[in-house]
Amino acid sequence: MWIPPQRQRHQLPAGEWPSAQQAAQSLWFSSIQVGPVTLQQRTWIPAMVPWRSNQEGEVTQDVIDFYERYAQGFPGALVLEATGIRDIPSGPLLRIGHDRYLPGLKKLVEVVRRASQGRTRLFIQIIDFLPIRRRPDPDRYFAQFLEINDRHRQLLPGQSDDEIRRTLVRREDLLNSRELESLRHGYRERVTDMHLESVRNLPQVLPEMFAQAAARARQAGFDGVELHYAHAYTMASFLSGLNDRADGYGGTPAERLRLPLEVFQAVRRQVGHDYAVGCRFLANEAIAGGYTQADACYYGVELARAGMDFLSLSRGGKFEDAKQPAVGAASYPYTGPSGYECMPSFLSDRRGPWGRNVPDAGPIRQAVLSAGLTTPVVVTGGICSFAQAENLLESGQADIVGSARQSLADPDWFLKVYLGRGDEVRRCKFSNYCEGLDQKHKQVTCQCWDRLNLEEEGIKMAQDGKRRLIAPRWIP
Ligand SMILES: Cc1cc2nc3c(=O)[nH]c(=O)nc-3n(C[C@H](O)[C@H](O)[C@H](O)COP(=O)(O)O)c2cc1C
Repeated sequence: MWIPPQRQRHQLPAGEWPSAQQAAQSLWFSSIQVGPVTLQQRTWIPAMVPWRSNQEGEVTQDVIDFYERYAQGFPGALVLEATGIRDIPSGPLLRIGHDRYLPGLKKLVEVVRRASQGRTRLFIQIIDFLPIRRRPDPDRYFAQFLEINDRHRQLLPGQSDDEIRRTLVRREDLLNSRELESLRHGYRERVTDMHLESVRNLPQVLPEMFAQAAARARQAGFDGVELHYAHAYTMASFLSGLNDRADGYGGTPAERLRLPLEVFQAVRRQVGHDYAVGCRFLANEAIAGGYTQADACYYGVELARAGMDFLSLSRGGKFEDAKQPAVGAASYPYTGPSGYECMPSFLSDRRGPWGRNVPDAGPIRQAVLSAGLTTPVVVTGGICSFAQAENLLESGQADIVGSARQSLADPDWFLKVYLGRGDEVRRCKFSNYCEGLDQKHKQVTCQCWDRLNLEEEGIKMAQDGKRRLIAPRWIP
């Protein structure tokens, strides 16, 4: 994880926990309508991949246990992790690209319903992403992966293709920027790779794929779907300021928004108007050439106008500034400055990590309101106290407040605060221990609890045998 060079240490925002009566009267614990769905509270756990699935992308018992634990804290909404819409091998990423995933997803929904006593609304985040390969061993790259083409032949006339390969080992200056990237970071496809048929066809295939995935989500019993239009993945790359496709799906903000709108319309047609459909997108891409705040406001207004039931705002998390991975590892979009913006840690710059997305998210909510729309806006990023959340709601910068890492640190924290027992909240340290595990695709746990009460009977341990997989139970 990249850390701002200033490396200023920031203390956690003061707890200032409310009494039970104050909590009951607060905005954060008041209900809100999200399209056809009512949230009992404006508390929200955004999508967080915990790497509990298997190579088939199935709902395992570990996946179920993980979400059951969150549900015991009764959040207003819980968003299931990024779940792949294609039926292709995707490592241990959860998948929804085929009907065979339905039984597992149904079971998960039932368990969350029961554990939350019906109080938590469960959404699922659905994602598409483009192929990415691991950083190659340089010898293999030059000998095997690099495709010798006419450009190389013109640069090195008279040489056979094998001779060209051997020459290029010594002459990296003759590689173009994409070849160099493939050598140094690993091959990564982009939505602008119009020479590839699969990329050219994305606008033709994605609406139906998202629609089918959303239909399965509805069938499985989820209360709604969140279309993943954020971070480093396909849909965010269409919205990106870097998208210069010339086929009407790139260039101006309206053209960059075209496919996200078409995907939404296909989903809406499939699931109907009585089903919650929202999206997560970036209030700020946080990369050079990323879209402007005006673009982000425009996206928010148009997505709301199109009929989205909620807009969840994130920040950064892009490949463009990711750190170089080790040979044999894949690039990870949360290792550069934009990754820091997505999951800011306590070591920061002067601005600090707390509510870091608010200055960009607040104007989007205002723009949506000014357009006469009431679509709820979810704001997340460094929010871990009642006072922060309540201030955001009171000042009109958000309608719903999300907390990812704090909820991992203490899945009961909403309940504790609601009961007036905020001083019992186990507070996230914002050290990004969880994010480090995520990066290695290791089962994500929290340093605040994964070594606690290991002698407890029946607890499941992580594959490394050292960490418990689920936070200890809290008995109110
Ligand atoms: C381990 C981990 C996994 C994450 N996975 C996802 C994901 O699947 N989809 C997503 O939109 N964001 C994901 N995020 C980002 C979080 O939803 C959230 O936006 C970010 O952590 C900042 O919020 P926080 O400060 O409340 O933690 C993940 C974050 C972490 C720490």
